[in-house]
Amino acid sequence: MKAEDVKKIAMIGAGDMGHGIAACCLMGGYSVVLRDIDQKFVDRGMAGIKGSFDKFKAKGKMTPEAYDEALARLTPMVDLQEAVKDADFVIEAVPEKLELKKSVFADLDKYAPKHAILASNTSNISITEIASATSRPDKVIGYHFFNPAILMKLVEVIKGGKSSDESIQIGYEIAKKIKKVPVIVKKDSPGFIYNRVNEPAGAFLDKILEAGHPTPEEFDAALKPFMPMTPFELMDYVGIDIAVHGLEYFAQVLSPEYRPSAALLSYMKSGNLGKKTGKGIFDWSQGRPQIDLTKATKEYDINHLIALQVNEATKLLEEGVADDPKEIDLAMANGGGSPFGPFAMAQGIGYNVLLAKLEEIHKKFPLEIFKATKIMKEGNIKV
Ligand code: 3HC
Repeated sequence: MKAEDVKKIAMIGAGDMGHGIAACCLMGGYSVVLRDIDQKFVDRGMAGIKGSFDKFKAKGKMTPEAYDEALARLTPMVDLQEAVKDADFVIEAVPEKLELKKSVFADLDKYAPKHAILASNTSNISITEIASATSRPDKVIGYHFFNPAILMKLVEVIKGGKSSDESIQIGYEIAKKIKKVPVIVKKDSPGFIYNRVNEPAGAFLDKILEAGHPTPEEFDAALKPFMPMTPFELMDYVGIDIAVHGLEYFAQVLSPEYRPSAALLSYMKSGNLGKKTGKGIFDWSQGRPQIDLTKATKEYDINHLIALQVNEATKLLEEGVADDPKEIDLAMANGGGSPFGPFAMAQGIGYNVLLAKLEEIHKKFPLEIFKATKIMKEGNIKV
């Protein structure tokens, strides 16, 4: 199969990520089936797609004709077999549980046409493991979008242990067609590129929560002038459950130092998962949290977070997950709210400045995961 043979995409999972990805595929001209296990989830996903298209139409970014035409290509569905029976490309975005993903992939393998590529939007889980539930591991790839998928440009196209070059190429070209910025991840490694580079910052935020100071509002207030969405706000936006799963996964596969704290787990236990439940670290019942800039802490600034990113990015080079710092920068500049990648920022700010920030963090929280790498200390990567 070639990318131009792909006409129909089945989206499995209609949650935040699923409906956002489905919307992108519709805008790229594909016929899309949106499937979830219950009609009410499908309805919510359909409303999410319509809501985004309404915004685009109201702002003149989508003509009324394009709006009607795109929605006419969308089919809601609950029956999995029916949803994938004539799909050329299937994208899965179900909750982040390995056993669940494996059982979904075993079903997709059974019901989707033999030529179909099966792509997983997993944030972290090994593509090789997921593919092992199918009889076509060559046609299983990672396909990682970023939240909100409708706006964030990056798609990590991840090579599992047995993914064929042809499957990766088709995934890459589809991502281009839907106007995303694809980056091929050559090694099936925890967190791939974007989440791996950001995970130490996640652990750092958790350590701050655990320490109890500065408060999330004081911390976010210091960073607000530099970021469209501040770190604790973003944790709520993406979901505390997702943040906890990420940390637990990294604790298992990379270092127990990532284990989420009791402070973070208490939000999970009380069901305060962030934006989607109306309350998390912040209150979302009236919309985005209002951060009071006068409360800004003096203890931390944006360079502490950048230092953590740069340090982790150097580990991806050491481990061969990426061999070109420019590719890491391309991924990092398109997955979230920052216009620059870590290496470009390090070049601009100075490795010595960032190294000092990293050492401050390491002094407060003396963990291996916050320790400067050799490449970070040498500070001579140019992009
Ligand atoms: N559909 C369509 N348009 C939308 C929208 C949606 N769902 N949400 C927002 N918009 C539009 C707004 O209407 C607005 O349009 P305009 O510029 O034409 O007026 C524009 O987007 C900007 O929105 P806002 O003014 O409301 O807010 P911001 O300026 O803060 O932008 C944001 C919103 C683009 C989401 C920005 O806050 C941002 O970049 N945040 C960072 C997100 C991020 O880091 N994501 C990565 C998370 S990690 C992840 O996903 C990995 C996973 O594995 C967990």
